[in-house]
Amino acid sequence: MPDDANVLAIEGLRAGYGALEILFGTDLLVAPGEFVALMGPNGAGKSTLLKTIFGMTAVTGGSIVWNGERISGRKPRDIRRRGIAFVPQGRCNFPLMSVDENLDMASCTIPGTRRADRDFVFDLFPILRERRRYPAGYLSGGEQQMLEMGMAMLQRPRLLLIDEPSVGLSPQAIHQVFAEMLRINAEGCTVLLVEQNTRKAMEVAKRVAVLRLGQVIWTGPPSAITHQQLGSLFMTGRLDMAPDDTVFPTV
Ligand SMILES: Nc1ncnc2c1ncn2[C@@H]1O[C@H](COP(=O)(O)OP(=O)(O)OP(=O)(O)O)[C@@H](O)[C@H]1O
Ligand SMILES: [Mg+2]
Repeated sequence: MPDDANVLAIEGLRAGYGALEILFGTDLLVAPGEFVALMGPNGAGKSTLLKTIFGMTAVTGGSIVWNGERISGRKPRDIRRRGIAFVPQGRCNFPLMSVDENLDMASCTIPGTRRADRDFVFDLFPILRERRRYPAGYLSGGEQQMLEMGMAMLQRPRLLLIDEPSVGLSPQAIHQVFAEMLRINAEGCTVLLVEQNTRKAMEVAKRVAVLRLGQVIWTGPPSAITHQQLGSLFMTGRLDMAPDDTVFPTV
């Protein structure tokens, strides 16, 4: 296998929506099997970066190379065929359709999906097998998140992009969803997670990348940064806040 097998290499990426540029020269390297947590303030461009990797925005510069092949500029279905799956931010199932029908819908978009892939998903998330005839909208938030992860895992991806899976979930459901992501990663799938729950993300990720104003400004293992430093990076772009950095101005 070549050295760049299953490596995601993003270099000088510029992308956005029409004339609106959101990513301004973003660089990020994700190694095979890594679990990387991408964090940053609201509006930094985290979701835009995941959407761009998955071919959903307009790339105006730089490159995204996956598995030795340039994928920037390709369509989502071509990117998906190359072993990348995406679970977007927010609920993204068909609430009136059953769990089985939601998985059918996902299968339709992945040529070659077999019965064994459905069983693989049910083995990953046994609760989905139990709830297979329930409308997705009747499932709890945590179960719906697992359904959406299951819809992505049907294709047995080698890279999972997942955006804010913990939003709106109870602590117990968050614990479960993170445990499932760790299991997926332990089975060899690289994970690039966007997460606002920085404590939880730093518990599970092997590496953290901080995105601010469309650029990755810091990356390293969670052990190399404190929560205070992370907050400082989010707000000021520096590891340590200067004494005159006013976060909450007094009147
Ligand atoms: N479809 C769109 N069309 C135009 N602008 C958009 C679109 N989606 C996002 N944006 C803008 O892009 C910028 C980055 O948004 P993005 O959703 O990537 O941020 P984020 O880091 O994921 O934030 P959050 O933590 O709030 O989810 C924001 O200013 C947002 O308004
Ligand atoms: Mg987002």
